This record gives sequence, C-alpha cells and structure tokens, in this order.
Amino acid sequence: MDPEDAYRRVLSSIEEHHRWFDSSLPMIASENVASPAVRRAMTSDFGHRYAEGWVGERVYAGTKYIDYVESLAMELIKKLYGVKFADVRPISGVVANLSVYTALTQPGDVVMALPITKGGHISMGPLKGSKGQFIGGTAGAVRGLDVKYIAFDDENMNIDVDRTINRMEKYKPKLIMMGGSVILFPQPVKELVEAAKSIGAAVNYDAAHVAGLIAGGKFQRPLEEGADVMTFSTHKTFFGPQHGAVITNDEEKFELIKLANFPGLLSNHHLHAVAALAIAAAELLAFGKEYAEAVVKNAKALAQALHDEGFKVVAEHLGFTESHQVLLDVDDLGGGYKCEKLLEEANIIVNRNLLPWDIKRGRGFKDPGGLRLGVSELTRLGMGPDEMREVAKFYREVLIDGKDPKEVAREVSELRKDFKTVKYTFEEGPAYEY
Ligand SMILES: Cc1ncc(COP(=O)(O)O)c(C=O)c1O
Repeated sequence: MDPEDAYRRVLSSIEEHHRWFDSSLPMIASENVASPAVRRAMTSDFGHRYAEGWVGERVYAGTKYIDYVESLAMELIKKLYGVKFADVRPISGVVANLSVYTALTQPGDVVMALPITKGGHISMGPLKGSKGQFIGGTAGAVRGLDVKYIAFDDENMNIDVDRTINRMEKYKPKLIMMGGSVILFPQPVKELVEAAKSIGAAVNYDAAHVAGLIAGGKFQRPLEEGADVMTFSTHKTFFGPQHGAVITNDEEKFELIKLANFPGLLSNHHLHAVAALAIAAAELLAFGKEYAEAVVKNAKALAQALHDEGFKVVAEHLGFTESHQVLLDVDDLGGGYKCEKLLEEANIIVNRNLLPWDIKRGRGFKDPGGLRLGVSELTRLGMGPDEMREVAKFYREVLIDGKDPKEVAREVSELRKDFKTVKYTFEEGPAYEY
C-alpha cells in the first residue's frame, strides 16, 4: 500500500463521513454532536501532553494551564450535580465503572447488575453466561467479579424491587450497579439503597446515558436518592467529548476511586478531552435545563408519532419514555438487523437492540427484535415535536410502506437543510463541518 495514498484516503473518508452525517438523521441513543468549542478543544495541544496524577501533585512539568482547566472541569461538574467530589480523569464510561470496581470490590466479590438482555451494559457483565458461554463483560473478565443479576420487570421496563431485594439477601453483593444502556424510566434507587445498606453493599448508578438529562434536572438525581457513587460517559445526553467521570459525596470512597484511577488505571488521561469536558459542562450549566426538557419532549413526541404511524412502541401504557430513548419492537417487521440496514440506506442511523423478551422468543444479539432510538442529537440540532412527526413518517415509509430507502434519503436530506447548527451553546456553529 502506498503510504501517501493511504494518508489521502483516510482524510477523504473523514470528509465523506462528515458530508454523510450532515444530511442524515443520527439517532443512536448513545451519541450526540458536540459544539464547535468542544471540538476545538479536542484538537488542541493538550492532546499531546501528559499530566499524570492529581492537580497540584503532578509528576510532569508544563501543566500549569492544564491544571487550571482540569480544576475548572472538576468545579463545573460538582456544581452541575451538586456534589462534593468529582474525578474527571476516566477516559470513558467503562473506565469510570472499572475505577469503581477497583476501589470498592475485590476479585471474587459479588456485584449485582442488570443483564445485557434487559438493559445492562457489557461493562457490568460476567465472564461467562449461565450455560458457560463466553461473555467477557468488564466486571467478570477484567475485575474477576461474580456477577449476579438484578431482577427486571419486562412489563414495566424497570427493576423488580422485591425480587431484586430477595436476590441481594441471598447473594450478599459488595456492589450494586444501577443505571443501564436501555433506560426509559427512572429506577428505584431509594428502595435498593435501603436494602443495600442493610447488607453493607455500596450502590453505583451508571448514568452513562442519562447524565445530560440529570444535569438538566429532567431525570432522577441518584446521589440525592442515596446512591454512593455515580459514573458516566460525557458524550451521550451529556453532549461533550468521548470521556468519562465519577462523582460522589463520600470522601472515603472518593480517595479509593482517585487511587484506582491513578496509579491504577490511567497514566495519560486525555487532557484535550478534559478541556472539552469542561466546556461541555459549562454549556450544560447554562443551557442544560432547556436542552434536557426539549430532549424528553422530543422523545415522547417521537414515540407517540411512531405509535400513530402503526409501530409497536414499547411501554405505551407508561407513556413510552421519560428519557431520550424510544424502543421499538420490530419483530413483525423482519427484526432489528433488517430494519437497521434499511434505515441506514435511508440515511437514518439507529441501532438494533435486544428487547427483554427476545431470548424467550428465540432472538439473539445479532438479530434482536428491537430498535433503540435516541433523540439527543436531533434535539441539539434544534429539532422539535413537528420534526419528530416528520421523522416518524420516514420510519413508516421505509419499514412499513416498503418505499425505496434512497427516495426517503432525499426527503431526510431536505428536512436536514434547516438543521445544520449546534444549539444550546455560547457560540452556535456548523454541526458537521470539517
Ligand atoms: C450504561 C453504560 N455504561 C457504560 C457505557 C460505556 O461508555 P463508554 O463508551 O464511554 O466507555 C455505556 C455505553 O454505551 C453504557 O450504556
């Protein structure tokens, strides 16, 4: 391969990707688009530097501006969530969870979390499944934890409190991991915290998905409801760089988490992303309330519109959703794999997802029965309920009417013409410019 040719192909592929997303509907629930200022920070010289350790206790020189920005990032995060302690060094949500496992458990301890089939994340998963099959989740494979499952009520799309408490009493976990990747409704934090206290277990709420909604006051505040620690990614509803963070009010646990992060898990903690995170946190402090309200309103509007267009939207009896996510059951429409691919041809980007009842009906993760839709990015581009109804119509055209996806792609691109700018920031600018 000619190196210069490869070099040019990489650059042109990035450009093409930008052009594609500039005329598409990016609806992956775990994604968002960052502001021009966040993107500028991501390309700054901070990304060439090291600042091992804690502000004021660095083992590198040349960090005075980096230290100032990292201190600001911690202050902004503490203010955003009303907490005493924040570590902004984890380089992702998975690393944030790993820092909690490292700090609060020992290999062999029991941790409880939702199974991946019911909204749990791979970072909370076991090494092996109940039939001995390899799963390789972070909790089991990396920290050597014995993962037992939180019980789930499929009908109510939420944790089954009584069954979970019974299991807690039986398995005596050291740590309960709440939160998840499929999260339509607030979870029963208070109830599980009470039970956890009685057996000496700690509770971490993984807010990877909902951190931006929590910041904007539109989702439960887990620490105020009694959870010990909250981990999160900073690039899903929290519209910052790909990074992570941990917050708590518990000083003893915080000291352990700090040590887990350095020298345990991190040498370089992606300083450009810390700067970008500080910018996004400032944006959320200023615009988060308005943004989070718009996100939840859009999710509800999209769910209702999809229902009206003839889709099976999960949790109709509960008002569909209280988060940024909408879940569709597309078993009757050929399954998640086929639907995801058809929508992609129409420039509608979503991901297929397991539904809680999929395993029972013989579906697996390669071709699950669900689609998980997210509206955070469309909201950040300034779309509202009227556009959600348009979007639902595109889904119907592709998946129910069998219209040529290429034709729908043209309609999508037409709709996107009026939504090219990142909102909810101090200096609005083009969303996908490169
Ligand atoms: C609940 C949950 N935790 C952790 C993560 C991992 O986050 P990251 O990609 O930042 O490591 C995800 C990612 O989607 C998630 O859904």
